[in-house]
Amino acid sequence: MKLAVLRGGKSAERDVSLRSGEQVAKALRGRGHDVTPVDLDAGTWDVLRDGTFDCVFNALHGRMGEDGTVQGMLELLGLAYTGSGVLASALCMDKSRAAKVMQGVGLHVPEFEELEIKEGVAADVVERVVARFGLPLVVKPVREGSTIGLTIAKDADAVASGLVLAGRYDRRVLVQRFATGTEVTIGVLATPDLQVLPTLEIVSENPVYDYDAKYTAGKSHHIIPARIPEAARAAASDAAARAFIELGCSGMARVDIIVDPEGTPWMLEVNTVPGLTELSLLPDAARAAGIAFDELCQRLVDHAVGRHRRHVGPGAL
Ligand SMILES: Nc1ncnc2c1ncn2[C@@H]1O[C@H](COP(=O)(O)OP(=O)(O)O)[C@@H](O)[C@H]1O
Ligand SMILES: [Mg+2]
Repeated sequence: MKLAVLRGGKSAERDVSLRSGEQVAKALRGRGHDVTPVDLDAGTWDVLRDGTFDCVFNALHGRMGEDGTVQGMLELLGLAYTGSGVLASALCMDKSRAAKVMQGVGLHVPEFEELEIKEGVAADVVERVVARFGLPLVVKPVREGSTIGLTIAKDADAVASGLVLAGRYDRRVLVQRFATGTEVTIGVLATPDLQVLPTLEIVSENPVYDYDAKYTAGKSHHIIPARIPEAARAAASDAAARAFIELGCSGMARVDIIVDPEGTPWMLEVNTVPGLTELSLLPDAARAAGIAFDELCQRLVDHAVGRHRRHVGPGAL
């Protein structure tokens, strides 16, 4: 097949996406495809329109890539593309609205509140959220990834500076109760049959599973399966599958969860374009399930092409 791999882009996760795109391109070349890496910029529309590609592999993370915008462009161009469509991509990028959908179907989400940061942060706001959520509490931008702009605040001053920091990335900021327990992430594939990958436990050398811990070799470890009781693992896997379906995801997603000591899965977020280097979380869990990285990439492409054919082929609506 003639394939384009979209990577880079303008989001805060540009560097991660360049790495994901590079490894995806390598894997797909290894499968014998003709692969063109495309670094997202103003000329991308023309490149994709004129490129006669059979499928576009979307390896863009964050805004303008993972958030429905690029999916909209690909729909308009009539091209097959990997992963979720416009609505699920946009919904999952918005941590606040995705959380409301998850709560609405009975999933557990740590209690949260959305604030709009305009000019500065009033002292009474800090006081109020500390009274409501207790300390530590979590402050994060509504639409960002890779722990960018996130603070785990242990005192009121840290809450105030956390709100200012998060507000630099998004005027919409989430303040959330801190969930205590084992941090796990669960990959879900649907190409098209639903397959929940083994539960992966994240152990970070840093106090928070932050950008540095995520992308510096040796600073975090993956343990598969997670060291939690079997019943808790089953509950977390069910919750991940449920979130995937209810948010309308397609192809793949990775669901971040904290499992508390009682075994309750607390949903943090759903990533529709998770990291895709060979060392990333979802590829690691796929490997544990017997799916090699190149096979994972191939499956996502085959699913995208099949889905596209059904949409444009005879009998499509
Ligand atoms: N409510 C919370 N309770 C405890 N830890 C949290 C909470 N929210 C986020 N974290 C920590 O911050 C990390 C990043 O948060 P997450 O919501 O997954 O956003 P993103 O990965 O998009 O930056 C999580 O992996 C977790 O370690
Ligand atoms: Mg996350």
